[in-house]
Amino acid sequence: MKIGNDIQHAAQLLQAGTAVAIPTETVYGLAANAFDPEAVIRIFEIKQRPKFNPLIVHISNWEMLDKVATEMHPQLKNLATVFWPGPLTILLHKKPIIHDIVTAGSEMVAVRMPNHAVTLQLLNALDFPLAAPSANLFGSISPTTAKHVEAQLGNQLAYILDGGDCAIGVESTIIKLDENEKIVILRPGGISQEAIAQIVGYVPAIASSTDNPEAPGMLKSHYAPKIPLVIGNITALLNQREELSISILSFNKTYNHPKIIKAIDLSPSGDLHEAARNLFTAMHELEDSGAAIILTELLPNKGIGMAINDRLSRAAS
Ligand code: TXA
Ligand code: MG
Repeated sequence: MKIGNDIQHAAQLLQAGTAVAIPTETVYGLAANAFDPEAVIRIFEIKQRPKFNPLIVHISNWEMLDKVATEMHPQLKNLATVFWPGPLTILLHKKPIIHDIVTAGSEMVAVRMPNHAVTLQLLNALDFPLAAPSANLFGSISPTTAKHVEAQLGNQLAYILDGGDCAIGVESTIIKLDENEKIVILRPGGISQEAIAQIVGYVPAIASSTDNPEAPGMLKSHYAPKIPLVIGNITALLNQREELSISILSFNKTYNHPKIIKAIDLSPSGDLHEAARNLFTAMHELEDSGAAIILTELLPNKGIGMAINDRLSRAAS
């Protein structure tokens, strides 16, 4: 049995240095012992991920944090106290036990405490933290169900720990403290800019996405479906595009046109959290719909809508 909910079995595999897919509240991760460079290398091989792209280290308690990183700045500690366990990843100064392969040679390690009962139990059963990127092939759409993981990586994995559908649906927000001791958002995600602003008392800047970013995984082109995805005014695009079979990814709206062969409304009620939860499943379905192209529109750029727009923009580039 390759997909299951046997936490003990997952723990044994991880203790033996094997990579295991695990659920989190954001997306599924491909996990290995963060203290074991050989185990971590397997993650890069399975995902076909370039080694310059560092991994997030997942912990379940503050004692483990103390093993992997040095003392946090009070602003960061505040945010961790409020949002952990949850979809917030913090760049911290690493301790020597974290091997260069995990951080791609950086002195900073990305750490988060995921908010998923199964994975918190798993972490509590281990005496090491788990390095884990999203459990998809490098550059493609992230997995929010065990089935998504199986479809992309199933034949390479010993076990997929099934924790159900991911409750948030987009990856964690990644933050760091800059030279001026201000919070900067490196990747918008499950914790909104507004929520962080409420805690720190100012609106944190969002680092712009570039092709040569400080964090290599912030690459502009990412989350790419197998067919082109174009963002714009869907009505106008429907009239302009020459493709004969079109799929539509919309928000709080439906469209009619003879060329549409599949359409998904991310949230008929206009709820951004529901849209985030449905986003990657919808993209997986539309890329396999047989259409030649996906047409989509940006969502309101607030709250978790910012993370959704970020993923759509990367998927389109
Ligand atoms: O929600 C999430 O964050 C999910 C779940 C599994 O926890 N993980 C995830 O991992 O999205 P991944 O590898 O797909 O994206 C992690 C991002 C990458 O863009 C990587 O470059 C950045 O975090 N990152 C990791 N360690 C870093 C470091 N030391 N310095 C700068 N960026 C780092
Ligand atoms: Mg990823």
